[in-house]
Amino acid sequence: MPDNLESFSGRPERAADFLPRTVPVVPPIHHSVTYFLDDQAYKDVQEGGLREHWYGRFRNPGVDLAAREIAELEGAEAGFMTSSGMGAIASTLLALLSAGDRVVAAKQVYGDTHDLLSRDLAAWGFDVRRVDALDLDAWQDEIGAGPTRVVYAETMSNPQLDLTDLAAVADLAHAAGALLVVDNTFATPYAVRPLSLGADAVIHSATKFLNGHSDAIAGVVVGDDDLVTRVQQRVITLGTCLGPYEAYLVWRGLQTFRVRMAQQTATAGALAEALSRRQDVVRVRYPGLGAMVAITVAGGDERAHDVVRRLRVGCEATSLGGVETLVSTPFNSSHFSLTPQQRLAARIDDGMIRISCGLEPTDALVADFVQSLDSTGRSR
Ligand SMILES: Cc1ncc(COP(=O)(O)O)c(C=O)c1O
Repeated sequence: MPDNLESFSGRPERAADFLPRTVPVVPPIHHSVTYFLDDQAYKDVQEGGLREHWYGRFRNPGVDLAAREIAELEGAEAGFMTSSGMGAIASTLLALLSAGDRVVAAKQVYGDTHDLLSRDLAAWGFDVRRVDALDLDAWQDEIGAGPTRVVYAETMSNPQLDLTDLAAVADLAHAAGALLVVDNTFATPYAVRPLSLGADAVIHSATKFLNGHSDAIAGVVVGDDDLVTRVQQRVITLGTCLGPYEAYLVWRGLQTFRVRMAQQTATAGALAEALSRRQDVVRVRYPGLGAMVAITVAGGDERAHDVVRRLRVGCEATSLGGVETLVSTPFNSSHFSLTPQQRLAARIDDGMIRISCGLEPTDALVADFVQSLDSTGRSR
């Protein structure tokens, strides 16, 4: 073995010599899962372990940075990132609930959230009640019918774009001693900040508009310090933490969040307006908040799928919130796990197409939908 290899220590302390004195404009990605423990570190860990960096599943500087940016966008005291949007939803609910607790949730939610609520949580012994998100009387009846612990809704639901009256539901929840947890993935803080309307926790699939580039799976929960610490404790035991590289991708996407949302929202408005003039589009849902549009075409799910297949600008793909327009039919993607009856009960029409508007030129996207609808032969 050469002499220089014999003396090669490879000690990681050496990395400290290469830390810049100046602050980098782009934050570093901290891949280290562990940290040198000195006397101060032991003391800090004993006194407030969750605040310190000593193990990557507990916290990571770049992950914290992305969480801080999102908390700021939502007007929250604190935030914590998770492995995915579902990781955020499951970790938050399991942090706030104890065995047997009652949850009142909207029927209009993302398909996997539906499964978590009505299949998994119910199987684990929680008492889960579902209500039509648009029916305030139903919210009131169910929230008041028992000792409710958590109320759950999407600001603007996937895929119906139904808006929950968050201020009213927050009042009902608080009067019953419950916490309101809101998934703000579709509306985004560009359009709505649920905490300002009374929500106690806001969740995102950061995979979507916050990241914006369809290249990272991530989730986040924001709220007050106490609530976020409770969720962090659950993330630690469930292992639903986010990796440092994904956190960096979310952070990078956030740098263009405002301009992306402005452009994508303008395109969504123009597309909704153009499609609402067609007779073969029987319903256009666009509440004017954000970049999501849902349309229902005459001819049901079969034609809807045909329309999506013939798009040349829009991509037939699940997910949403990317710089590319992502188009899907809920019946065979986001909500395939629901029966046709469950889909109708959740106001998912036969023939619905979900559109997440991207950054392509607006005219090109509108023309793409026009040619696709025309070519399926039902235009009048
Ligand atoms: C509204 C909503 N919430 C949560 C999720 C789950 O997010 P993730 O795929 O990041 O787990 C999705 C995914 O599509 C969603 O649309």
